[in-house]
Formats: sequence, structure tokens, C-alpha cells
Amino acid sequence: MRLLVTGGAGFIGSNFIRQYLARNPADSILNLDKLTYAGNLENLAEVENHSGYRFVKGDVCDGALAAELVRDERPDAIVHFAAESHVDRSILEPSPAFETNLRGTFTLLEAAREFKVERFLQISTDEVYGSLAEPLEADENFPLRASSPYAAAKAGADLLALSFFTTYKTPVIVTRASNNYGPRQFPEKFIPLMITNALENRPLPIYGDGLQVRDWLHVEDHCAAIESVVARGRPGEIYNIGGNCSRDNLSVAREILRLTGRPESLLQTVVDRPGHDRRYALASAKLERELGWSPRTGFAEGLARTIEWYRSHDGWVARVKGGEYRQYYQQHYENREQTLSRL
Ligand code: NAD
Ligand code: DAU
Repeated sequence: MRLLVTGGAGFIGSNFIRQYLARNPADSILNLDKLTYAGNLENLAEVENHSGYRFVKGDVCDGALAAELVRDERPDAIVHFAAESHVDRSILEPSPAFETNLRGTFTLLEAAREFKVERFLQISTDEVYGSLAEPLEADENFPLRASSPYAAAKAGADLLALSFFTTYKTPVIVTRASNNYGPRQFPEKFIPLMITNALENRPLPIYGDGLQVRDWLHVEDHCAAIESVVARGRPGEIYNIGGNCSRDNLSVAREILRLTGRPESLLQTVVDRPGHDRRYALASAKLERELGWSPRTGFAEGLARTIEWYRSHDGWVARVKGGEYRQYYQQHYENREQTLSRL
């Protein structure tokens, strides 16, 4: 197989490329990534010299580039990860999420349609279903109720992708995963932020009462699910990918403090995220039934391994937490009440 992967220098994309090429060494991957603040080629050092791997720096909103790559490379499948992926950033400044998540997806769909690509995977999220009261679980037919600009742009992109299947028979498949965690995740997201702050003896900022619930999925399990959907998923279908592991934020933060040997006094309650979804919960029975996938990594094991990765990659952490990150952190967390009151 020849894959065109977008956003492959980010957290999930880079884990996918490394894992996919290790398991399918005769296949090839072209990685198209703009290298925003979240893109990091260091994440791909292991595959840099793989004969089947190539990197192109570019924007998924660039229609001419997308058409040229698809025309010249003739990929068997496009696996579309590229996105502005952080909810808080989309609240502070919604325009990049709209451009990349929606317009970028449209641009790639047009290229896939023009050159008749045989498979287009739209990598999406459980956030499109919005907040769910206990004991609800969202299956693939659950209504879309996105709360943040990030989630709304992803929901719009999902609908657009599925419309290409209905209208043009472009063989689109949508996957919707729950919260990922694991090595190389940018420390703006909850788990790597809590781990790296704990290791640095800095406060762990908990939004509101900390009782919001997320379903945690190890990134390697997510990548294995995507690999099976690329190979055997049915065009026109949506597949949920859940971790089967619901936890409230406060208990995850406490577990991280325990595993890093840090005191609970580092927990710091801060002003809540506007429009904060209280609970996500996914039903992934369809993927298990049709493709035989289920998550393998237990949360205790996955979290301990993730902490160990961050502990032993302090150079990666220092580089990622410098420059732009420091500015973002200051703007977002220091004087948080004033920042949010300006929205
Ligand atoms: P990430 O922020 O770590 O990486 C995003 C990557 O996309 C970066 O390499 C960035 O440079 C690239 N990118 C951004 N804008 C681009 C553009 N205009 N053109 C080309 N490249 C661009 O994101 P992630 O957490 O790895 O998420 C990847 C995908 O998975 C996203 O589509 C996200 O919505 C989805 N998803 C993420 C999670 C999660 O928990 N992180 C869960 C479910 C679904
Ligand atoms: O559910 C899938 C989604 O998970 C993906 O689509 C998104 O790309 C990904 O960013 C993630 O979104 P969340 O908003 O759920 O993840 P985040 O890591 O930003 O926050 C997880 C929870 O932790 C959420 O309830 C907000 C809370 N939180 C987050 C941060 C950054 C805090 O309490 N403090 C924080 O500093």
C-alpha cells in the first residue's frame, strides 16, 4: 500500500507512521505536514531513513499542492490526521481550527475525488457527540452536538466527508476516537501537561471541579484500530474507537502525582474552560464486531509507561516546552480569569 498521511508530525500521526512502517515495512508513506507549533519532525527520527518514507512540508488547505501530490504519488489511501487539535486554543482563537479542520479536509476530499483515491480516512473525534449524561454512550448514529469551535469544525468536516461518499461515491470512512494519551503528546493536553508539570514540581491546573469524565485510549491502540480500518473498513461508514476506560480528571491527576512521587498540594483549581463538556462516552461495539479490534493497553500500565517516556525524554520536553509554548502557557494559565473574561 502507498499511503498519503496528513499531520504525520503530530502526536497521533507520528505514532501511526512509526507503528505502521514497523508492521508493514514494504509499504510506503508520504507525510504532508505544515509543521505548526504541534508538528515535530523529532517524532519521526526512527523512520527518517526508511526507504518507503518521505516528508513534504505543506498546508492541507493548499489545493494545488494536494492535487499535485495525489496525482504524482497515486496513494491507495489518504489518512487525514492534520488538524488544529486543541480545544483551548480553538476557544482563544477559532479561525485556525475552521481553516485547517474544515477547509483543509475539503481540499483533500477534492483531490481524492479528482484522482479517484480508493480510500479516504477522516480521523475524527468523540467530541462531535458533545457532552453525554450518565449512563448514555454514543454509538455511530448518535446526534452531533459539538460544543467548541474545534469540535464543530471536526463535525462539519465529518459531514462534508460523508457527503462526498453519498454524492460522488468517494470512498470515505470516518473514525471517531476518544481521548488519546501516550508518548510524544504535546504538553498542552491534559495528561502530558500534568506529567511534565509534576516532574518539574509545578502546579497541576485543574479546570473547575475536576470531575469531568474522559475515556482514555492509548495511542498505540488507536493506531492499530486505524490500521485495521485502512485495510478492512467499509466505505461510507463511521467507526467509533473508545478506550473503554472512563476516568474523571481529578483522579487521573492524583494518580500521576502518586506515580511521580509528588504531593497532592501541587493540585491547583483554576477557572473552568468555557463550554466545557462534562462527560464523553463512546460505544465501540461496531469496530469490535466488524474488524475484531479492541483496546489492549490497560490504563494503569499505559499511564506508567507514558510517565516513564516523559521522564526519560527530558530533552524532548525541554525543547517542546520552550519558545511558543511558554508564551501560550503564560497567556492561557497566568491571570486566567482576566484572559477568559476578555473572550
Ligand atoms: P496534533 O496537534 O498533535 O498534530 C496535528 C498535526 O497536524 C501537526 O503535526 C501539525 O503540524 C499538523 N497540521 C496542523 N495544521 C495543518 C495544516 N493546515 N496542514 C498540514 N498539517 C497541519 O494532533 P493529534 O492529537 O495528533 O490529533 C490528530 C488527529 O486526531 C486530529 O484530526 C484530531 O482531531 C484527531 N483526534 C485526536 C485525539 C486526541 O486525543 N489527541 C482524539 C481523537 C481524535
Ligand atoms: O475526546 C477526544 C479529544 O480529546 C480530541 O478530539 C482532542 O483533539 C483532544 O485535545 C482531546 O480534547 P479534550 O478537551 O478532552 O482534551 P484536553 O487534554 O484538552 O482536556 C482533557 C480534560 O482535562 C478536559 O476535561 C479539560 C481538562 N483539563 C485540560 C487541561 C489542558 C484541565 O482540567 N486542565 C488543563 O490544563
